[in-house]
Amino acid sequence: MTLATHSLRAGGREVPLLAGPGALAELPRVLSGAGFEGRVFVIADEFALGLHRSTLDQVLAGAPVLPVSGLEADKTLESVSRVWDWLIDNGAQRRDALLAFGGGVVCDLVGFAAASYLRGVGLVNVPTTLLAQVDASVGGKTGVNHARGKNLIGAFYQPLCVVADTSLLATLSPRAFAAGMAEVAKIAMILDAGLFERVERAAAGLGPREADEVAPLVARSIEVKAEIVERDERESGDRMLLNYGHTIGHALEAGAGYGTLLHGEAVSVGMQAAARIAARMGMLDSESVARQTALLTALGLPLNWSADSDEILGRLSLDKKRAGSRQRWILAERVGSGRIRDDVPAEVVVEAVSSITLR
Ligand SMILES: NC(=O)c1ccc[n+]([C@@H]2O[C@H](COP(=O)([O-])OP(=O)(O)OC[C@H]3O[C@@H](n4cnc5c(N)ncnc54)[C@H](O)[C@@H]3O)[C@@H](O)[C@H]2O)c1
Ligand SMILES: [Zn+2]
Repeated sequence: MTLATHSLRAGGREVPLLAGPGALAELPRVLSGAGFEGRVFVIADEFALGLHRSTLDQVLAGAPVLPVSGLEADKTLESVSRVWDWLIDNGAQRRDALLAFGGGVVCDLVGFAAASYLRGVGLVNVPTTLLAQVDASVGGKTGVNHARGKNLIGAFYQPLCVVADTSLLATLSPRAFAAGMAEVAKIAMILDAGLFERVERAAAGLGPREADEVAPLVARSIEVKAEIVERDERESGDRMLLNYGHTIGHALEAGAGYGTLLHGEAVSVGMQAAARIAARMGMLDSESVARQTALLTALGLPLNWSADSDEILGRLSLDKKRAGSRQRWILAERVGSGRIRDDVPAEVVVEAVSSITLR
């Protein structure tokens, strides 16, 4: 199978995006093509490293490797600080690059370490989860959590390149795989009806080991995300569409305690709440709502969550997407197309939240 190659023009440079089985082997060629001559410091999710060390060593023999926890609870400034300590101890210079090997947690954490160490060193993203391949590794958002909220500390920082090797996904649990598919479904529902149809056709047979079926979906998701980021790197317009399902999703995730409900699972439930809001606003017809519900179900994703709806509503007021006093909502108007609305009445939100909470 051939590799899909896209690129993303952002942050004043061209970011190559490679996707497909075996893509990691291309990394040295991509780096030298970009004129990179420094050392590569690998910061790796310890679990993914245990599974894929030999693949990594084949490509980057001799590179220093720091294993880190890939847990959401460890996506903190303390973890970034340990990365800084290790880089200083090992004499990392400005011309060098950090390579993030892991899921979205490690990509976000290492991205922020790269943005801040020596005021910015190179960054290479090698995402090892489906969610990180289709979303977290592309677009330059980096950062960590704060006790008061998710992703509150961070920076926009574009990597030198992103290498999404879909063969690395074979070791994912079905649950983690499904969580990644939630972000694919999100991109499809709000931006790409063709991708939505492809996922609908493939959903029943999809799994972590179906690299041939998964690779084109990964490649297309990356391409759609890259197009949006090119138009709106700083998220002042269209990029906000990628937050579909995330307003309520983030509130659910924080309320559940980071790590209890996977990010993609929270997004799935958040998409259902958003579809309910869109239907109540007269924007989305019942057939489109039903297609979204059917797709998330076929992917093995949750449609609701046992949470206290008052607590979720309380958390919504800390959401970063809140502009001024008006909460912005990303709502679908049909399959494959979304819009930003800031005129959703509070009672519609209250009803949607109670429709997806089981307590
Ligand atoms: N920056 C962005 O634009 C952006 C976008 C979406 C999500 N995110 C962030 O991404 C994070 C979620 O990412 P995630 O879902 O990848 O979770 P994750 O990074 O926590 O990884 C999930 C689990 O998978 C394990 N793992 C990693 N690679 C594996 C492999 N190949 N085989 C088996 N297990 C493997 C990890 O050890 C971890 O336990 C959240 O923190 C979210 O905020 C960021
Ligand atoms: Zn997300």
